[in-house]
Amino acid sequence: MAPLNLESLHVAGELRVPGDKSISHRSLIAATLADGRSRVRGILPSADVHSTASVLRALGASIPALEASIEIDGLGLRGLHAPTADLDCGNSGTSARLLAGVVAGSGVTARFVGDASLSRRPMKRVKVPLEQMGAQLELPAHGGLPMTVRGATLHDIDWHSEVASAQVKSCILLAALTAGVEATVREPSRSRDHTERMLAAMGAEVWTNDEAVLLFPTTRLNALDIDVPGDPSSAAFFTGLAALAGSGELLLRHVGVNETRTGFFAAMREMGAHVELKDSVRESGEWVADVQVQSGAALRGVTIGGEAIPTLIDELPLLACVAAYAEGETRVTGAAELRVKESDRIAAVVGNLRALGADAEELPDGFVVRGSSPTLRGRVTTHGDHRLAMAFGVLGALPGNEIAVDDPDCVTVSYPNFWTDLERVTS
Ligand code: S3P
Repeated sequence: MAPLNLESLHVAGELRVPGDKSISHRSLIAATLADGRSRVRGILPSADVHSTASVLRALGASIPALEASIEIDGLGLRGLHAPTADLDCGNSGTSARLLAGVVAGSGVTARFVGDASLSRRPMKRVKVPLEQMGAQLELPAHGGLPMTVRGATLHDIDWHSEVASAQVKSCILLAALTAGVEATVREPSRSRDHTERMLAAMGAEVWTNDEAVLLFPTTRLNALDIDVPGDPSSAAFFTGLAALAGSGELLLRHVGVNETRTGFFAAMREMGAHVELKDSVRESGEWVADVQVQSGAALRGVTIGGEAIPTLIDELPLLACVAAYAEGETRVTGAAELRVKESDRIAAVVGNLRALGADAEELPDGFVVRGSSPTLRGRVTTHGDHRLAMAFGVLGALPGNEIAVDDPDCVTVSYPNFWTDLERVTS
Protein backbone atom coordinates (compact mmCIF):
# COMPACT_ATOMS: atom_id res chain seq x y z
CA MET A 1 0.00 0.00 0.00
CA ALA A 2 1.32 3.49 -0.86
CA PRO A 3 2.48 5.55 2.14
CA LEU A 4 0.08 8.18 3.37
CA ASN A 5 0.54 11.66 1.91
CA LEU A 6 0.22 14.09 4.79
CA GLU A 7 0.55 17.13 2.49
CA SER A 8 -3.21 17.25 2.02
CA LEU A 9 -3.95 17.69 5.75
CA HIS A 10 -4.30 21.36 6.64
CA VAL A 11 -5.07 22.60 10.14
CA ALA A 12 -6.04 26.09 11.20
CA GLY A 13 -7.51 27.92 14.11
CA GLU A 14 -7.42 28.61 17.79
CA LEU A 15 -8.69 26.36 20.51
CA ARG A 16 -9.16 26.67 24.23
CA VAL A 17 -8.94 23.07 25.36
CA PRO A 18 -10.97 22.20 28.47
CA GLY A 19 -9.67 22.60 32.01
CA ASP A 20 -6.93 20.43 33.43
CA LYS A 21 -8.33 17.20 34.83
CA SER A 22 -5.78 16.82 37.63
CA ILE A 23 -6.23 20.42 38.76
CA SER A 24 -10.03 20.16 38.51
CA HIS A 25 -10.14 17.17 40.89
CA ARG A 26 -7.81 18.92 43.30
CA SER A 27 -9.78 22.20 43.16
CA LEU A 28 -12.93 20.45 44.34
CA ILE A 29 -11.13 18.60 47.12
CA ALA A 30 -9.07 21.55 48.33
CA ALA A 31 -12.05 23.95 48.21
CA THR A 32 -14.06 21.49 50.31
CA LEU A 33 -11.29 21.33 52.91
CA ALA A 34 -10.75 25.12 53.01
CA ASP A 35 -12.25 27.72 55.33
CA GLY A 36 -14.58 30.14 53.56
CA ARG A 37 -15.86 30.46 49.99
CA SER A 38 -13.63 29.31 47.12
CA ARG A 39 -14.03 30.30 43.48
CA VAL A 40 -13.17 27.95 40.65
CA ARG A 41 -13.43 29.05 37.02
CA GLY A 42 -12.94 26.79 34.01
CA ILE A 43 -13.33 23.47 35.82
CA LEU A 44 -13.41 20.46 33.52
CA PRO A 45 -17.01 19.14 33.46
CA SER A 46 -16.00 15.60 32.48
CA ALA A 47 -17.12 12.23 33.84
CA ASP A 48 -14.02 11.79 36.02
CA VAL A 49 -14.43 15.19 37.67
CA HIS A 50 -18.15 14.52 38.16
CA SER A 51 -17.08 11.39 40.08
CA THR A 52 -14.98 13.46 42.48
CA ALA A 53 -17.82 15.98 42.89
CA SER A 54 -20.38 13.30 43.71
CA VAL A 55 -18.08 11.48 46.15
CA LEU A 56 -17.40 14.78 47.96
CA ARG A 57 -21.15 15.46 48.11
CA ALA A 58 -21.67 12.01 49.65
CA LEU A 59 -19.10 13.00 52.30
CA GLY A 60 -21.06 16.17 53.14
CA ALA A 61 -19.59 18.81 50.82
CA SER A 62 -21.82 21.32 49.04
CA ILE A 63 -20.50 21.18 45.49
CA PRO A 64 -22.73 22.91 42.93
CA ALA A 65 -23.26 21.70 39.35
CA LEU A 66 -19.95 21.97 37.47
CA GLU A 67 -20.49 25.15 35.50
CA ALA A 68 -17.99 27.60 34.01
CA SER A 69 -17.69 29.51 37.27
CA ILE A 70 -18.56 27.95 40.62
CA GLU A 71 -18.36 28.83 44.28
CA ILE A 72 -17.79 26.25 47.00
CA ASP A 73 -18.30 26.85 50.72
CA GLY A 74 -15.57 24.94 52.50
CA LEU A 75 -16.15 22.70 55.49
CA GLY A 76 -12.65 23.07 56.95
CA LEU A 77 -10.13 20.30 57.46
CA ARG A 78 -12.34 18.26 59.84
CA GLY A 79 -15.79 18.84 58.35
CA LEU A 80 -16.48 15.65 56.39
CA HIS A 81 -18.86 12.97 57.64
CA ALA A 82 -19.25 9.26 56.91
CA PRO A 83 -21.25 8.51 53.75
CA THR A 84 -24.42 6.45 53.87
CA ALA A 85 -23.67 4.57 50.63
CA ASP A 86 -20.70 3.31 48.59
CA LEU A 87 -18.52 6.02 47.01
CA ASP A 88 -18.68 5.47 43.23
CA CYS A 89 -15.53 6.73 41.48
CA GLY A 90 -16.61 5.55 38.01
CA ASN A 91 -13.52 5.31 35.79
CA SER A 92 -11.41 7.70 37.86
CA GLY A 93 -8.22 6.53 39.55
CA THR A 94 -7.52 10.07 40.74
CA SER A 95 -10.88 10.20 42.56
CA ALA A 96 -10.35 6.82 44.25
CA ARG A 97 -6.75 7.36 45.35
CA LEU A 98 -6.90 11.02 46.40
CA LEU A 99 -10.21 10.63 48.20
CA ALA A 100 -8.98 7.49 49.98
CA GLY A 101 -6.42 9.78 51.62
CA VAL A 102 -9.06 12.34 52.52
CA VAL A 103 -11.33 9.67 54.07
CA ALA A 104 -8.43 8.10 56.00
CA GLY A 105 -7.36 11.45 57.47
CA SER A 106 -10.92 12.53 58.24
CA GLY A 107 -11.44 9.55 60.54
CA VAL A 108 -14.50 8.25 58.72
CA THR A 109 -15.18 4.88 57.10
CA ALA A 110 -16.18 4.50 53.47
CA ARG A 111 -16.26 1.88 50.73
CA PHE A 112 -14.99 2.88 47.28
CA VAL A 113 -16.35 1.25 44.13
CA GLY A 114 -15.86 1.94 40.43
CA ASP A 115 -16.38 0.65 36.90
CA ALA A 116 -14.77 -2.55 35.61
CA SER A 117 -11.56 -0.77 34.52
CA LEU A 118 -11.05 1.10 37.81
CA SER A 119 -11.91 -2.01 39.84
CA ARG A 120 -8.91 -3.78 38.28
CA ARG A 121 -6.41 -1.02 39.05
CA PRO A 122 -3.86 -1.41 41.88
CA MET A 123 -4.86 0.08 45.22
CA LYS A 124 -2.21 -1.59 47.38
CA ARG A 125 -0.01 1.39 46.56
CA VAL A 126 -2.31 3.55 48.73
CA LYS A 127 -3.22 0.84 51.26
CA VAL A 128 0.35 0.32 52.46
CA PRO A 129 1.25 3.97 53.23
CA LEU A 130 -2.20 4.78 54.67
CA GLU A 131 -1.93 1.75 56.98
CA GLN A 132 1.53 2.87 58.02
CA MET A 133 -0.10 6.16 59.03
CA GLY A 134 -2.67 4.28 61.16
CA ALA A 135 -5.71 3.79 58.90
CA GLN A 136 -7.11 0.38 57.92
CA LEU A 137 -7.88 -0.61 54.34
CA GLU A 138 -9.53 -3.74 52.99
CA LEU A 139 -9.03 -4.81 49.40
CA PRO A 140 -10.17 -7.87 47.46
CA ALA A 141 -7.53 -10.51 46.61
CA HIS A 142 -6.81 -8.92 43.20
CA GLY A 143 -5.84 -5.65 44.94
CA GLY A 144 -8.37 -3.35 43.22
CA LEU A 145 -11.85 -2.16 44.19
CA PRO A 146 -14.07 -2.39 46.18
CA MET A 147 -11.81 -0.80 48.79
CA THR A 148 -12.95 -0.08 52.34
CA VAL A 149 -11.05 2.72 54.08
CA ARG A 150 -11.38 2.99 57.87
CA GLY A 151 -10.06 6.34 58.99
CA ALA A 152 -8.41 6.71 62.39
CA THR A 153 -6.09 9.00 64.30
CA LEU A 154 -3.12 9.10 61.94
CA HIS A 155 0.56 9.71 62.61
CA ASP A 156 3.46 11.30 60.73
CA ILE A 157 4.91 9.47 57.76
CA ASP A 158 8.16 9.50 55.78
CA TRP A 159 7.31 7.45 52.69
CA HIS A 160 9.57 6.17 49.89
CA SER A 161 7.29 5.44 46.96
CA GLU A 162 8.39 2.69 44.56
CA VAL A 163 6.57 4.35 41.67
CA ALA A 164 6.54 7.98 40.59
CA SER A 165 2.83 8.50 41.11
CA ALA A 166 1.13 11.81 41.81
CA GLN A 167 -1.96 9.91 42.89
CA VAL A 168 -0.07 8.03 45.61
CA LYS A 169 1.82 11.17 46.67
CA SER A 170 -1.38 13.22 46.80
CA CYS A 171 -3.21 10.50 48.71
CA ILE A 172 -0.58 10.63 51.46
CA LEU A 173 -0.44 14.45 51.49
CA LEU A 174 -4.24 14.72 51.74
CA ALA A 175 -4.36 12.13 54.53
CA ALA A 176 -1.72 14.10 56.45
CA LEU A 177 -3.47 17.40 55.73
CA THR A 178 -6.85 16.28 57.02
CA ALA A 179 -5.32 14.44 60.01
CA GLY A 180 -3.11 17.38 60.99
CA VAL A 181 0.14 15.38 60.83
CA GLU A 182 3.41 15.72 58.91
CA ALA A 183 4.19 13.83 55.70
CA THR A 184 7.32 13.43 53.62
CA VAL A 185 6.97 11.62 50.28
CA ARG A 186 10.02 10.58 48.26
CA GLU A 187 9.71 9.34 44.68
CA PRO A 188 12.07 7.68 42.19
CA SER A 189 11.42 10.60 39.84
CA ARG A 190 9.25 13.64 40.10
CA SER A 191 5.54 13.20 39.42
CA ARG A 192 3.11 16.05 38.71
CA ASP A 193 3.09 18.50 41.62
CA HIS A 194 -0.34 20.17 41.40
CA THR A 195 -1.39 19.13 44.90
CA GLU A 196 1.60 20.65 46.63
CA ARG A 197 1.38 23.85 44.54
CA MET A 198 -2.31 24.26 45.32
CA LEU A 199 -1.93 23.61 49.05
CA ALA A 200 0.98 26.06 49.20
CA ALA A 201 -1.12 28.69 47.38
CA MET A 202 -3.80 28.16 50.06
CA GLY A 203 -1.37 28.85 52.90
CA ALA A 204 -0.12 25.37 53.85
CA GLU A 205 3.58 25.01 54.57
CA VAL A 206 5.05 22.75 51.89
CA TRP A 207 8.71 22.22 51.07
CA THR A 208 9.76 20.55 47.84
CA ASN A 209 12.95 19.62 46.07
CA ASP A 210 13.72 17.20 43.22
CA GLU A 211 13.46 14.10 45.41
CA ALA A 212 10.85 14.82 48.06
CA VAL A 213 7.88 16.83 49.23
CA LEU A 214 7.29 17.68 52.88
CA LEU A 215 3.94 18.91 54.20
CA PHE A 216 3.84 20.37 57.70
CA PRO A 217 0.75 20.05 59.90
CA THR A 218 -1.73 22.88 59.56
CA THR A 219 -5.06 23.70 61.18
CA ARG A 220 -6.66 25.56 58.27
CA LEU A 221 -6.50 26.28 54.55
CA ASN A 222 -7.39 29.65 53.01
CA ALA A 223 -10.10 29.62 50.37
CA LEU A 224 -9.02 28.91 46.78
CA ASP A 225 -9.40 31.29 43.84
CA ILE A 226 -8.38 29.63 40.60
CA ASP A 227 -8.83 29.85 36.85
CA VAL A 228 -8.12 26.24 35.87
CA PRO A 229 -5.62 26.15 33.00
CA GLY A 230 -6.31 24.08 29.88
CA ASP A 231 -5.19 20.48 30.18
CA PRO A 232 -1.80 19.89 28.51
CA SER A 233 -2.82 16.25 28.07
CA SER A 234 -5.81 17.41 26.00
CA ALA A 235 -3.74 20.04 24.16
CA ALA A 236 -1.34 17.23 23.26
CA PHE A 237 -3.83 15.67 20.81
CA PHE A 238 -3.99 18.88 18.78
CA THR A 239 -0.24 19.39 19.07
CA GLY A 240 0.26 15.92 17.61
CA LEU A 241 -2.32 16.55 14.89
CA ALA A 242 -0.78 19.88 13.85
CA ALA A 243 2.70 18.33 13.88
CA LEU A 244 1.48 15.62 11.47
CA ALA A 245 -0.33 18.04 9.15
CA GLY A 246 1.30 19.17 5.91
CA SER A 247 0.39 22.82 6.38
CA GLY A 248 -1.21 25.32 8.71
CA GLU A 249 -0.90 26.36 12.31
CA LEU A 250 -2.82 25.82 15.55
CA LEU A 251 -2.86 28.09 18.56
CA LEU A 252 -3.92 26.43 21.81
CA ARG A 253 -4.80 29.09 24.36
CA HIS A 254 -4.31 29.12 28.14
CA VAL A 255 -2.70 25.69 28.51
CA GLY A 256 -1.08 24.54 31.76
CA VAL A 257 2.67 24.23 31.18
CA ASN A 258 3.81 23.09 34.62
CA GLU A 259 7.16 21.43 33.86
CA THR A 260 6.00 18.14 35.41
CA ARG A 261 3.47 17.93 32.53
CA THR A 262 5.22 19.24 29.41
CA GLY A 263 7.18 16.15 28.34
CA PHE A 264 5.04 15.63 25.23
CA PHE A 265 5.72 19.13 23.92
CA ALA A 266 9.46 18.53 24.49
CA ALA A 267 9.29 15.14 22.75
CA MET A 268 7.51 16.64 19.75
CA ARG A 269 10.20 19.30 19.52
CA GLU A 270 12.89 16.64 19.67
CA MET A 271 11.09 14.85 16.83
CA GLY A 272 11.44 17.99 14.74
CA ALA A 273 8.01 19.63 15.22
CA HIS A 274 7.69 23.38 15.62
CA VAL A 275 6.07 23.76 19.04
CA GLU A 276 6.42 26.98 20.99
CA LEU A 277 5.13 28.00 24.42
CA LYS A 278 4.26 31.69 24.29
CA ASP A 279 3.44 34.34 26.87
CA SER A 280 3.94 32.19 29.99
CA VAL A 281 2.35 33.63 33.12
CA ARG A 282 1.97 32.24 36.62
CA GLU A 283 -1.61 31.95 37.90
CA SER A 284 -2.58 30.46 41.29
CA GLY A 285 0.82 28.79 41.56
CA GLU A 286 0.69 27.18 38.08
CA TRP A 287 2.41 28.22 34.82
CA VAL A 288 0.09 28.85 31.90
CA ALA A 289 0.95 29.64 28.25
CA ASP A 290 -0.34 29.59 24.68
CA VAL A 291 0.96 26.64 22.69
CA GLN A 292 1.68 27.40 19.04
CA VAL A 293 2.26 24.54 16.63
CA GLN A 294 3.35 25.11 13.04
CA SER A 295 2.73 22.26 10.64
CA GLY A 296 4.92 21.04 7.80
CA ALA A 297 8.07 19.85 9.57
CA ALA A 298 9.33 16.33 8.86
CA LEU A 299 9.29 14.19 12.01
CA ARG A 300 11.97 11.75 13.14
CA GLY A 301 11.88 9.03 15.77
CA VAL A 302 12.85 9.66 19.38
CA THR A 303 14.08 7.68 22.40
CA ILE A 304 12.39 8.38 25.73
CA GLY A 305 12.84 6.88 29.19
CA GLY A 306 13.83 7.52 32.79
CA GLU A 307 12.82 10.74 34.50
CA ALA A 308 11.01 12.08 31.44
CA ILE A 309 8.34 9.37 31.67
CA PRO A 310 6.12 10.90 34.39
CA THR A 311 6.09 14.21 32.47
CA LEU A 312 4.26 12.62 29.52
CA ILE A 313 2.84 9.43 31.01
CA ASP A 314 -0.70 10.06 29.74
CA GLU A 315 0.56 11.16 26.30
CA LEU A 316 2.52 7.99 25.51
CA PRO A 317 -0.30 6.28 23.54
CA LEU A 318 -0.50 9.43 21.40
CA LEU A 319 3.28 9.50 21.00
CA ALA A 320 3.19 5.91 19.73
CA CYS A 321 0.54 6.91 17.18
CA VAL A 322 2.46 9.98 15.98
CA ALA A 323 5.66 7.88 15.79
CA ALA A 324 4.12 5.79 13.00
CA TYR A 325 4.64 8.90 10.81
CA ALA A 326 8.14 9.81 12.05
CA GLU A 327 11.20 8.60 10.18
CA GLY A 328 13.12 5.85 11.95
CA GLU A 329 12.50 4.21 15.28
CA THR A 330 10.76 5.57 18.38
CA ARG A 331 11.62 3.69 21.55
CA VAL A 332 9.95 4.23 24.95
CA THR A 333 11.19 2.40 28.07
CA GLY A 334 10.70 2.77 31.83
CA ALA A 335 6.95 3.14 31.35
CA ALA A 336 5.62 -0.09 32.90
CA GLU A 337 3.01 2.08 34.69
CA LEU A 338 1.18 2.22 31.36
CA ARG A 339 0.11 -1.35 31.96
CA VAL A 340 -2.02 -0.32 34.98
CA LYS A 341 -3.76 2.76 33.58
CA GLU A 342 -7.41 2.85 32.38
CA SER A 343 -6.32 -0.07 30.16
CA ASP A 344 -3.01 -1.85 29.58
CA ARG A 345 -1.92 0.99 27.33
CA ILE A 346 1.20 -0.79 26.04
CA ALA A 347 -0.74 -3.82 24.82
CA ALA A 348 -3.65 -1.71 23.62
CA VAL A 349 -1.74 0.89 21.62
CA VAL A 350 0.65 -1.62 20.04
CA GLY A 351 -2.13 -4.13 19.34
CA ASN A 352 -4.25 -1.50 17.64
CA LEU A 353 -1.38 0.01 15.65
CA ARG A 354 -0.42 -3.42 14.35
CA ALA A 355 -4.00 -4.38 13.54
CA LEU A 356 -4.37 -1.17 11.50
CA GLY A 357 -1.15 -1.79 9.56
CA ALA A 358 1.65 0.03 11.46
CA ASP A 359 4.98 -1.42 12.57
CA ALA A 360 4.96 -1.54 16.38
CA GLU A 361 6.23 -3.86 19.07
CA GLU A 362 5.61 -4.25 22.80
CA LEU A 363 8.41 -4.07 25.36
CA PRO A 364 7.76 -5.13 28.96
CA ASP A 365 8.02 -1.48 30.04
CA GLY A 366 7.30 0.41 26.83
CA PHE A 367 7.18 0.02 23.06
CA VAL A 368 9.02 0.44 19.79
CA VAL A 369 7.35 1.99 16.76
CA ARG A 370 9.09 2.07 13.38
CA GLY A 371 7.78 4.95 11.33
CA SER A 372 6.66 4.08 7.81
CA SER A 373 3.87 6.62 7.14
CA PRO A 374 1.39 3.75 6.77
CA THR A 375 -2.12 4.02 5.44
CA LEU A 376 -4.14 2.70 8.37
CA ARG A 377 -7.46 0.88 8.01
CA GLY A 378 -9.64 -0.87 10.52
CA ARG A 379 -11.42 -0.70 13.84
CA VAL A 380 -9.77 0.37 17.07
CA THR A 381 -10.58 -1.47 20.31
CA THR A 382 -10.37 1.22 22.99
CA HIS A 383 -11.21 -0.96 26.02
CA GLY A 384 -13.24 2.10 27.06
CA ASP A 385 -9.98 4.06 27.42
CA HIS A 386 -10.48 7.75 26.57
CA ARG A 387 -6.85 8.41 25.69
CA LEU A 388 -6.75 5.55 23.19
CA ALA A 389 -9.93 6.81 21.55
CA MET A 390 -8.44 10.29 21.11
CA ALA A 391 -4.96 9.15 20.03
CA PHE A 392 -6.48 7.02 17.27
CA GLY A 393 -8.98 9.81 16.57
CA VAL A 394 -5.99 11.96 15.58
CA LEU A 395 -4.75 9.27 13.20
CA GLY A 396 -8.28 8.90 11.85
CA ALA A 397 -8.23 12.60 10.90
CA LEU A 398 -5.33 12.04 8.47
CA PRO A 399 -6.75 11.96 4.93
CA GLY A 400 -6.45 8.45 3.49
CA ASN A 401 -6.69 6.62 6.81
CA GLU A 402 -9.96 4.82 7.51
CA ILE A 403 -10.16 4.26 11.25
CA ALA A 404 -13.30 3.50 13.23
CA VAL A 405 -13.13 3.80 17.01
CA ASP A 406 -15.31 1.22 18.80
CA ASP A 407 -16.39 3.49 21.67
CA PRO A 408 -16.06 7.15 20.66
CA ASP A 409 -18.19 8.27 23.64
CA CYS A 410 -15.54 7.22 26.17
CA VAL A 411 -13.84 10.60 25.56
CA THR A 412 -16.37 12.05 28.05
CA VAL A 413 -14.00 10.84 30.79
CA SER A 414 -11.61 13.75 30.11
CA TYR A 415 -12.66 15.72 26.99
CA PRO A 416 -16.39 15.64 26.24
CA ASN A 417 -16.13 17.90 23.13
CA PHE A 418 -13.09 16.24 21.61
CA TRP A 419 -14.73 15.08 18.36
CA THR A 420 -16.31 18.49 17.72
CA ASP A 421 -13.01 20.28 18.32
CA LEU A 422 -11.20 17.82 16.05
CA GLU A 423 -13.71 18.46 13.29
CA ARG A 424 -13.43 22.22 13.77
CA VAL A 425 -9.66 22.47 13.27
CA THR A 426 -9.46 20.07 10.35
CA SER A 427 -12.38 21.28 8.20
C1 S3P B 1 -2.89 11.86 37.81
C2 S3P B 1 -1.67 11.25 37.91
C3 S3P B 1 -1.18 10.25 36.96
C4 S3P B 1 -1.94 10.31 35.63
C5 S3P B 1 -3.42 10.39 35.84
C6 S3P B 1 -3.78 11.61 36.67
C7 S3P B 1 -3.29 12.80 38.87
O1 S3P B 1 -1.35 8.96 37.50
O2 S3P B 1 -1.63 9.19 34.85
O3 S3P B 1 -4.07 10.47 34.59
O4 S3P B 1 -4.21 13.60 38.66
O5 S3P B 1 -2.67 12.77 39.94
P1 S3P B 1 -0.27 8.34 38.53
O6 S3P B 1 -0.07 9.35 39.55
O7 S3P B 1 -0.87 7.11 39.10
O8 S3P B 1 0.92 8.05 37.68
